[in-house]
Amino acid sequence: MQTDPNAHDMIEALLKETRTFPPTPAFAAQANAQPGIHEEAERDYLGFWRSWAEKLTWSKPFETVLEWNEPFAKWFGGGTLNASVNCLDRHVEAGRGGRIAFYFEGEPGDRRTITYAELLHDVCKLANGLRKLGVKRGDRVAIYMPMVPELPVALLACARIGAAHSVVFGGFSADSIVDRMKDAECVAIITTDQGWRRGKKVPLKATVDVALEQSPSVKHCIVSKRVGDPVAMRDGRDIWWNDLVRDEPATCAPEAMESEDLLFLLYTSGTTAKPKGIMHSTAGYLTGVTATTSLVFDLKESDIFWCTADIGWVTGHSYIVYGPLALGATGILYEGTPDFPEQDRFWEIVERYKATILYTAPTAIRAFMKWGREHVDKHDLSSLRLLASVGEPINPEAWMWYHDVIGGGNCPVVDTWWQTETGAIMIAPLPGITTLKPGSATRAFPGIVADVVDEEGKTVPLGGGGYIVIRQPWPSMTRGIYGDPQRFKETYWSKFEHLYLAGDGCHRDVDGDFWFMGRIDDVMNVSGHRISTAEVESALVDHHAVAEAAVVGKADDLTGQAIVCFVSLRSHSEPSAALNTELRQHVASKLGKFTMPKELTFTQELPKTRSGKIMRRLLRDIAEGRELGDTTTLADSSVVLDLQSRVQAASGKEE
Ligand code: WT7
Repeated sequence: MQTDPNAHDMIEALLKETRTFPPTPAFAAQANAQPGIHEEAERDYLGFWRSWAEKLTWSKPFETVLEWNEPFAKWFGGGTLNASVNCLDRHVEAGRGGRIAFYFEGEPGDRRTITYAELLHDVCKLANGLRKLGVKRGDRVAIYMPMVPELPVALLACARIGAAHSVVFGGFSADSIVDRMKDAECVAIITTDQGWRRGKKVPLKATVDVALEQSPSVKHCIVSKRVGDPVAMRDGRDIWWNDLVRDEPATCAPEAMESEDLLFLLYTSGTTAKPKGIMHSTAGYLTGVTATTSLVFDLKESDIFWCTADIGWVTGHSYIVYGPLALGATGILYEGTPDFPEQDRFWEIVERYKATILYTAPTAIRAFMKWGREHVDKHDLSSLRLLASVGEPINPEAWMWYHDVIGGGNCPVVDTWWQTETGAIMIAPLPGITTLKPGSATRAFPGIVADVVDEEGKTVPLGGGGYIVIRQPWPSMTRGIYGDPQRFKETYWSKFEHLYLAGDGCHRDVDGDFWFMGRIDDVMNVSGHRISTAEVESALVDHHAVAEAAVVGKADDLTGQAIVCFVSLRSHSEPSAALNTELRQHVASKLGKFTMPKELTFTQELPKTRSGKIMRRLLRDIAEGRELGDTTTLADSSVVLDLQSRVQAASGKEE
């Protein structure tokens, strides 16, 4: 068995990527972030964050910047403010009420334009309606809706009256809603009759009805009309949104919230255990999302910003709702999927609204690559000036394709690393300053002190890999797990003293740039080599026949773990035994002989969660021939059954 050549290296970085893209002078000259900003924040870290908090509108100015009682932070103590005022009133009061807050594009092709004044009007009416029902400051309200304009209205109406929202992604099951509403003891839920998905009607209200049978804390269900088919309404519990707001005034006094008051809860699906209710505060969260929206996306008044995430995930909270609205920007809200009715829907939308900034996920980019550039080439994408990525490591191939085919070679691509728990972007280039490298999230945002450490918690010298940690509190950090401070400490603050553990593996190159390598539990150990599943995936996707790949470690008598690959092919390629060998050899030639995968299975689709993350836990179960664990968070459960039978058939042949 080989030994690890570098004891410091938790994960060996094997892919060598050398392409670099310095900012163009033209972009640099107009950028919001100018050189020196990282150094300035380093010199006065609290001063940096204070200056961003001061850009918010306060009903009472804050007195302190940070009180740190590890792992519990209090930022901007003594101040009061309201998130909806920061997102709406202050723009309307400044005479910008006619600015467009959202271009809404429904999946069936219906369109609406919503100004800041209209959004404020709708938010006030719903906020009054909620108050009339008895929902009050300090309560929790669940929201289960498709991507329609009423969704951001619902979030902001909760914020206005000081009730924390808990958005449950509209694709989740009744059981998932129950778990989350019970944990938070929600008093109300806001939903929609039905939604549209790939031309089919999704029965949201009917799903909520099932959930409500088991959710005794919920007294009210507010239903917005999207599709229009009749739905069951229970007297005394259910009320139509329109009926609730009809006679309500169009103004509503906002609650003056303390900086640390809970703005929202968002549940992250843990791998096995029950979901964690991630808590976010009012002032710190708003400070983090405004600073990052301005500096990472270089957002200007003239921009049309399209973040394609669902508001059901943190990306939508931070970069569709709170960040862009706090800055008075114009956003695009799209209800549907990228391939409905055709595989060019995204590009049609970019062209129609002349989107200038696009923020999407590697899993989407790889799907676009698979569908082919002809769908892109049908449209004029020349309005785009910045591209961004989030959700998982972006492999250099996908980065280059995004840069060349979507960006026409003219747009910086910013890869943004962060988590539900961090609230806002943590590691990302600042376009205009940072030299980009395909596949790297580059460096920590100003005011974020990140490091890479080994198993003992010691800094790994540049050039090595380990655990990404954060050394100092930051304003938008989670304030904990709802109702479970102990689990918060154990999960994030116990492996290393005084360091926040994000749970991702990360490598830093000699320039100090960060390269993310997936979750720590996505690291394989093959003959003493710690190999990142993401790197093997990246090597596979580098092959022209491959559309997407997922890699897991499988217990192996000889090598500890063996590398097992699941691969979907591009439309022009066919599975064959020869290609199977070729792909495994391709990995070996890219990364080193010892990384030659032991097994490779072709599949049409990979099993993914509804947020697009590949479920490696299930793939490990399949690879090791175990009974499958929980599959309820899968987007499409038929995928795993199909894979299971393929793997079983293949191993049957070998015996
Ligand atoms: C996990 C957090 C952050 C909003 C969406 C996901 C992975 C996220 C990147 C990136 C490499 C990334 C990490 C992280 N991740 N962005 N740019 N490069 N990995 O939020 O569901 O809380 O997931 O997503 O593994 O820990 P989330």
